[in-house]
Amino acid sequence: MYGIVTIDGPAGSGKSTAARLLARRLGYCYLDTGAMYRAATLKALRRGVDFADEESLAALVRTTEFRLEERAEQIRIFVDGAEVTDEIRSREVTSKVYIFAELRRVREEMVPKQRALARKAATVADGRDMGTVVFPDAPHKFFVDGCAEVRARRRHREHLERGDKLSYEQVLEEVRVRDERDRNRKVSPLRIADGAQVLDTTDLGVEGVVDRMLESLRKAAPGAASGACPPAKSPAEREENGEGAR
Ligand code: DC
Repeated sequence: MYGIVTIDGPAGSGKSTAARLLARRLGYCYLDTGAMYRAATLKALRRGVDFADEESLAALVRTTEFRLEERAEQIRIFVDGAEVTDEIRSREVTSKVYIFAELRRVREEMVPKQRALARKAATVADGRDMGTVVFPDAPHKFFVDGCAEVRARRRHREHLERGDKLSYEQVLEEVRVRDERDRNRKVSPLRIADGAQVLDTTDLGVEGVVDRMLESLRKAAPGAASGACPPAKSPAEREENGEGAR
């Protein structure tokens, strides 16, 4: 087992796809922490919580049950038992999650939840601060980058697939603004963690990046067995075991 594998990087770098593929190849669970920030943002929007009220937003995170499941090769996210997989990708959530994720108190509540989820099984954790803040002692860390134009093209394609009519130029501008914010925010800015291997999807492509990751993991720990992400349990089974989120 390789323990926790962290993958950080900017929006649209292909890091989430790489993390999901790597988790599948290793038989690990995939922890999508961006989805957790998005899901909490959605809940706050639905409840009409004031985004200037940091304490109320932190309390909302503290009292939220997050669960991630892989079914039919898709990662699905549940908040307090209700699925929000599609809703968290809306334009509204995307435009607000940046404000939400910059709040210190919100992150203080989110981090222990992310650690608790990763404690349950061998995990590939994907986000912005996985290797720097949440799992600084992780034995294997990666940073996935990609040039802004390629990332914007990828994001633009995703928007079009969802029916959002945005121009490529608009998406590129958004990518640049978000990079600025992610890298320069006061709390948990996007940084390359000490000891992280930097991989770039611009030339390697996502599959190429995953191959490099597997190569590095095997080199670092030859003969390490793959993990086994437990299959998703039904709510009844979870209740029986006295379990909360996964
Ligand atoms: O990766 P994503 O686009 O789904 O992330 C959504 C937002 O959450 C984005 O604003 C970055 C932020 N985020 C964060 O601050 N820390 C993480 N560990 C993961 C995501």
